[in-house]
Amino acid sequence: MTTYVSVEGIARRYGPTTIFEDVWFGVARGEFVCLVGHSGCGKTTILNILAGLETPDEGAVIVDGTEISGPSLDRAVIFQGHALMPWMTAAGNVAFALSCRHRDWSRGKCDAAAREALRRVGLTHAADRKPAELSGGMKQRVGIARALALNPKMLLMDEPFSALDALTRGSLQDEVARLVTETQQTAFMITHDVDEAILLADRILLMSNGPGARIAEVVVNTLPKPRTRATLHHMPGYHALRDHVLDFLITRSKAFDAKAPPPGWSPRGVPEVTPAVAEPPPLAAE
Ligand SMILES: Nc1ncnc2c1ncn2[C@@H]1O[C@H](COP(=O)(O)OP(=O)(O)O)[C@@H](O)[C@H]1O
Ligand SMILES: [Mg+2]
Repeated sequence: MTTYVSVEGIARRYGPTTIFEDVWFGVARGEFVCLVGHSGCGKTTILNILAGLETPDEGAVIVDGTEISGPSLDRAVIFQGHALMPWMTAAGNVAFALSCRHRDWSRGKCDAAAREALRRVGLTHAADRKPAELSGGMKQRVGIARALALNPKMLLMDEPFSALDALTRGSLQDEVARLVTETQQTAFMITHDVDEAILLADRILLMSNGPGARIAEVVVNTLPKPRTRATLHHMPGYHALRDHVLDFLITRSKAFDAKAPPPGWSPRGVPEVTPAVAEPPPLAAE
């Protein structure tokens, strides 16, 4: 797999406080990477840096061979809130984004593509409604349709489902899992929800607690795709993977110390673990 994004030693500091530093990772083309860690460790800051909305205090982010210097429609963001324009219909919101991306497209072409994008997320019937006439889940669906319609080289998502009720969250997670698998969309997502990370991610980056947060571990998710929430917990290896990530959040995220790191860890050589395919214990000698 070829690297699409290369994050090279980025840091964020506020005065004497280092939020995170020496953060290195890559995202390959077609790969889905999730970032998991406790509140305040700097996840949103890292996503904003990838989006080009903030610049790091140290280090750089290289996208497709070029250091990023600002936002780009190649990297579409799905925010936690839906961020729709209230005076435009659902179709209007998506069509507006499309008209920004494709300056040469006619209104009719943007409108048709917007309606197709809404159809893909099950919102055909709501295309002509304004955000105030949509439920929270429907608004977030419009946000997803808008981001996917842009056909971005990378999709960036900051806890996109966290404001939704559990049922809506579940069905949207399944839909996003299906859409990104179908389109091999390169994606980077922040989540607090371990099952969501396991459903969607090819690799899960585990960030230690701040201040001075780092990428402490990288978990490789080898569970077969397509995955759905209904089948996930029956997959062999699922429980090992889930326990590994939960143990990190509960225990190892606090204990990680970059000055006295665990064996084999360096910022550029974060160990990749694959709990799902752990070897069975060796048979006792006869
Ligand atoms: N202007 C600021 N001055 C000092 N600290 C800040 C400022 N803005 C953000 N922070 C701190 O930066 C840290 C990282 O924030 P954020 O990226 O939003 O974390 P996360 O998304 O992981 O919860 C937080 O601990 C926050 O308190
Ligand atoms: Mg955040």
